[in-house]
Amino acid sequence: MKLIISKDYDEMSELACRMYIDEINKNPEIVLGLATGSTPKGLYKRLIAEYKNNNIDFSKVVTFNLDEYIGLSEEDESSYRCFMNENLFNHINIKSENINIPNGKATDLEKFCEDYDRRIEESGGIDLMLLGLGEDGHIAFNEPGEYLNTCTNIANLAQSTIEVNSRFFESIDDVPKTAITMGMAGILKSKKIILMANGVNKHKPINALLNEKRVTTKLPVSFLRIHPNVTVIVDEKAYRGR
Ligand code: GLP
Repeated sequence: MKLIISKDYDEMSELACRMYIDEINKNPEIVLGLATGSTPKGLYKRLIAEYKNNNIDFSKVVTFNLDEYIGLSEEDESSYRCFMNENLFNHINIKSENINIPNGKATDLEKFCEDYDRRIEESGGIDLMLLGLGEDGHIAFNEPGEYLNTCTNIANLAQSTIEVNSRFFESIDDVPKTAITMGMAGILKSKKIILMANGVNKHKPINALLNEKRVTTKLPVSFLRIHPNVTVIVDEKAYRGR
């Protein structure tokens, strides 16, 4: 596992952006796994600027998002689809048919999950997966528990995640309790993974990831230790806890 410590959020976003420019230029047909949340916003902003300066071309890029709330339509401002459109897709030349985001309004959710994994396989698999990190150590919506799911599945959000994510909703009661999420195998099958984490609230799971030697379902991010190609980019606050 490669660790990069940046001085702050901007530097973290800039470093990640440089890596994405390299990877996309090396392989214009790259299959990207993408995350939502506050963490990748700075990276997405920079990728849009680089696209506008003709430094990257997304015309052949394929994307698969990690997760989506169940029950929210694409138009809902709190949906991850809406987040992705506003923070990245609407501003770059990606083809709409190359964008894949779980559909939280699918009539048959179980079948949707199976199809999503099949679509990832058919695309040749994810070349570069971007992960954020939950304060409780979750990745995507794979929450700590007795077991973790391998495939794309319907997840129950932990109460602490509902509380943390309520900042994106009008009230905590509006936060969906369930979501579609890529499973642990879906994530770990990616050829390369970049995990980004910033701020003191991420110190606990980052510290555990970097300093403990075990994998445990109580800390889903710990499974990244068994992947051969992971880069963790953190800011000083996430690294030091102050
Ligand atoms: C959510 C998402 C995760 C994300 C995490 C961290 O729960 N399901 O995919 O990585 O929160 O979010 P943030 O970047 O806003 O801290």
